Amino acid sequence: MPDAVSHLNLAEIELAAKARLTTLAYEYYVGGANDEVTVRENRSAYEKLSLRYHVLVDVSKRSTRTTVLGAPVDFPVLIAPTAFQRLACDDGEIATACAAKAAGTVMILSTASTCTIEDVAAVGGRQWFQLYVYADRGLTKSLVERAEACGMGAVVLTVDAPVLGRRERDLRNHFHLPTGVRLANVPSSGSVPTPTGYGGSGLGTNFASGIDAALSWRDVDWLCSITRLPVLIKGIVRGDDAAKAVDHGASGIIVSNHGGRQLDTAIASVRALPEVVDEVAGRVEVLLDGGIRRGTDVIKAIALGARAVLVGRPVVWGLAADGEAGAKRVLDLLRAEVDLAMALCGCPTIGDISRDLVVA
Ligand SMILES: Cc1cc2nc3c(=O)[nH]c(=O)nc-3n(C[C@H](O)[C@H](O)[C@H](O)COP(=O)(O)O)c2cc1C
Repeated sequence: MPDAVSHLNLAEIELAAKARLTTLAYEYYVGGANDEVTVRENRSAYEKLSLRYHVLVDVSKRSTRTTVLGAPVDFPVLIAPTAFQRLACDDGEIATACAAKAAGTVMILSTASTCTIEDVAAVGGRQWFQLYVYADRGLTKSLVERAEACGMGAVVLTVDAPVLGRRERDLRNHFHLPTGVRLANVPSSGSVPTPTGYGGSGLGTNFASGIDAALSWRDVDWLCSITRLPVLIKGIVRGDDAAKAVDHGASGIIVSNHGGRQLDTAIASVRALPEVVDEVAGRVEVLLDGGIRRGTDVIKAIALGARAVLVGRPVVWGLAADGEAGAKRVLDLLRAEVDLAMALCGCPTIGDISRDLVVA
């Protein structure tokens, strides 16, 4: 099998990852909720958008650089928070942090990390911390304080998972963490009842227990009051919720349906984007994730108003295929594809990508 460096696109890296992973791990990563309608629509929505490219623009010099929350990134693709990365490779989240640093972009570390916040932060580069709010607010506050103390640049509050979606692949596989892989930052079990349907799965018993299903807008106020870091709200798909998030102190919105893993038949994220962008009206930056697999997807999301996008599964496939080098290869491929698409769209800079570039 070719190494990750010779893979031509993200789909080929996923195939290599599939060949290396156990069924339990592959299906945990690839799967979505219920019938996985939203997983598919996150992708197919991009195929239904067409690019109205410009011609006869000098594109001999191009730059994919931009800023996110005021800080520079080499290209507008960040790494989404994904749980349990040591299921994909031994170095887990540390390998991802190294790849992000080398690629000049931001890694978002999941609360459900299998490496400690401190070990990942020690890699350096730019990192943000993704927060699940536990009923135990003392535990939650200590996670935020640790991220802040380590120099992480933002907190990403995930709001689309008050309870876990029903992922039938995991139920079938009796998903559990293998010996030696554990939640590195939070206790691995709690006394709170598990979400319906997950009683027999290690995912429910080990991870979701303790997450607060009572999370509300008041908690956004609370979070903003306990940290000096900017808070982004991840999991919004409506303009009215985005406006509320801004009113409650959010510094950024991440339009996301959790990669189709929570509410099945939820709107594809790129379809939800324009309404959110219009409602936010430039008050804060809007990011997006879900189904980004090609440079042209990135261009379309930016044209529709996203400041940058995040990729989740592709980075995990890179890790599984070839560790840090595989994750880096995923980012390099995406950067090259973004650059090529910009050239062919007649957009030498990210600032040249405007809404009229895309038509449904
Ligand atoms: C295996 C896996 C684990 C995830 N874990 C988390 C998590 O811990 N916290 C979170 O906010 N989102 C989590 N997500 C959602 C991602 O952050 C992101 O929204 C989604 O993966 C984007 O879609 P994509 O995988 O199509 O790029 C997870 C997604 C996957 C696939």
